[in-house]
Amino acid sequence: MSVSSIAKTGKFKNSSCILYAKMGTKISFLLFLFVLPAVLADLRVGFYKPTCPEAESIIFQAVQKRLNTDKSVTAALLRMQFHDCFVRGCDASILIDSTSQNQAEKDAGPNQTVREYKLIDEIKKALEAKCPSKVSCADIITVATRDAVVLAGGPNYTVPTGRRDGLVSKAGDVNLPGPQVTVSQAFQFFKARGLTLDEMVTLLGAHTVGVAHCSFFSERLQNDPSMDAQLAAKLSSICAHSNTDPTVFLDQGTGFAVDNEFYKQLLLKRGIMQIDQELAQHASTSGFVSRFARDGNGFKQSFGNAMMKMGSIGVLVGNEGEVRKNCRVFNPKKKPTVPSPSTKAKVSPPSKKADNTKQKKPKGKEQKKKNKGKKPKVPSKKNKKNIIKSTVIIN
Ligand code: HEM
Ligand SMILES: *[C@@H]1O[C@H](CO)[C@@H](O)[C@H](O)[C@H]1NC(C)=O
Ligand SMILES: *[C@@H]1O[C@H](CO)[C@@H](O)[C@H](O)[C@H]1NC(C)=O
Repeated sequence: MSVSSIAKTGKFKNSSCILYAKMGTKISFLLFLFVLPAVLADLRVGFYKPTCPEAESIIFQAVQKRLNTDKSVTAALLRMQFHDCFVRGCDASILIDSTSQNQAEKDAGPNQTVREYKLIDEIKKALEAKCPSKVSCADIITVATRDAVVLAGGPNYTVPTGRRDGLVSKAGDVNLPGPQVTVSQAFQFFKARGLTLDEMVTLLGAHTVGVAHCSFFSERLQNDPSMDAQLAAKLSSICAHSNTDPTVFLDQGTGFAVDNEFYKQLLLKRGIMQIDQELAQHASTSGFVSRFARDGNGFKQSFGNAMMKMGSIGVLVGNEGEVRKNCRVFNPKKKPTVPSPSTKAKVSPPSKKADNTKQKKPKGKEQKKKNKGKKPKVPSKKNKKNIIKSTVIIN
């Protein structure tokens, strides 16, 4: 399958569904401490403490309120973060509205129409009222997604913050896998963004919530031995007699909770999309699926870690990018600069940062000079900076 045909099958549509948050008794396990690689070095837990101490609680309250009226918000935000982070990195490029000059990511040909832009707007408005120009849209997506995951019974993973908003959003940059890719084709997308196969299987566990339109899986309903016959019959009746494009839960067990039921369903041949079911059949991934199906807490722990890692793909930090005042539009330019014709230059999709992140300043250089000749402590300043100890709490 060529990349362009993958892109074509990667069409996405609006969807809505009801899922309810499992908010039972809270038994919190402190699961483990781990070390993240350098990629998170410039993000910090509590980044907004000095500049906007209430930022995270404002976000949490808004998400909670929204979830109370629409439980599908968890799925919407998870998908929003995936689509943001996989295209030019986690820089809120997905939030930009198209203009007559620019067709933005959200209107990409493969209609990956993600929902809940209004919730992000609402949160941004509240944050601007409290502490103007401080909290980035990219951080809002990441924190809000985590909150929605917790409220749906998932892990309470740590979200280091300090992301900046990108200055580019182009429909042409969107290159996402479609539901009929093979495991190895799918993995190329994840690998290109620094994620492992294990993490891919874990992140696809996000399909534990939310829905898919019939058009994304209907070709499986005829004669696909990898789908349970009863399920195929049921889905056929939902999908057949309608000229609309109905939706069904991706997790036929608990389509509303962030849990390991999705993997259990895969073992029963009750995956909806081809790529999901293939995770359970393919030799390279079936072991992960069985493990997660057996070990719910293990899944949650891994999911929290993998979400954290996905949230660090291609982030802008420091003086890179900007903090948008309105998540849908770039801030007005200070100097009226004419966009150079080089905007035509092709941007290679996975490696974001083409336009706005070149000037990665060598931070810590001063520090290094000062320490020159001294025996570095263990861990060295540099290494220490690159390590974030973090915890994942399972509710
Ligand atoms: C190979 C990778 C992936 C493929 C091919 C894929 C494909 C799809 C497709 C086709 C849909 C249905 C869209 C619709 O009918 O409207 C969907 C839904 C969804 N995806 Fe994925 N996805 C992938 C990875 C991910 C990842 C990594 C996440 C998040 C971490 C994610 C989160 C979701 C969620 C939550 C939904 C439900 C959305 C809703 O209910 O509104 N997906 N995905
Ligand atoms: C898909 O995107 C186009 C713009 O490129 C838009 O006009 C159309 O309404 C979208 N379709 C769906 C189903 O969202
Ligand atoms: C998640 O963990 C943080 C830090 O431990 C805590 O402050 C917060 O209240 C937790 N959130 C929920 C919803 O349990």
